Amino acid sequence: MSEKIDSTRRKALQITSGALGAVTVGAFAVPFLSAWNPSEKAKAMGAAVKFNLSKLQPGSMAVVEWRRTPIFVVHQTKTAKTNLPKLNQKVTNPALEEGVSRSTNENFTILKGVCTHLSCAPKYYPEIEPKAWDQEWLGGFFCPCHGSKFDLAGRVYKGVPAPTNLEVPPHSFEGETLVIGEEI
Ligand code: FES
Repeated sequence: MSEKIDSTRRKALQITSGALGAVTVGAFAVPFLSAWNPSEKAKAMGAAVKFNLSKLQPGSMAVVEWRRTPIFVVHQTKTAKTNLPKLNQKVTNPALEEGVSRSTNENFTILKGVCTHLSCAPKYYPEIEPKAWDQEWLGGFFCPCHGSKFDLAGRVYKGVPAPTNLEVPPHSFEGETLVIGEEI
């Protein structure tokens, strides 16, 4: 079982999932959970993973495992969607062509939870409040390894070690179901 509780005020759901073929993973009203343990073969195949978005509250983040990689699923708040464009000048690559949430559904941002510097796990800090690393923090991700910071859409700030934005994995939406990867 893999479990983690984010130290921030908002819940981050830790979800471990995998599939031989696509598997639907539910969002539950608990701060962490595990699904079931897929076989090593199924994990290696990298099958698509489905995640039910219906219970992921705005401002919350779930972590879903796909191809042994943590995938951050962020439900953006209205405030976050308003604030993200304000950071266009502070990030290295604003990625405007991807849309405000870097997703086809602007309410959700889907990111690989792997820092683009040396692959540490960035932490989720959605609060809008001064932080030690940024007195004008509007929420986002901070990598404690070497101090890289990303906004809530995973766009990397200028002047930090990480060279590029957090990567967006292949994904699609089927109503309230998120599909990460491609069904095989
Ligand atoms: S690994 Fe994230 S800043 Fe170095």
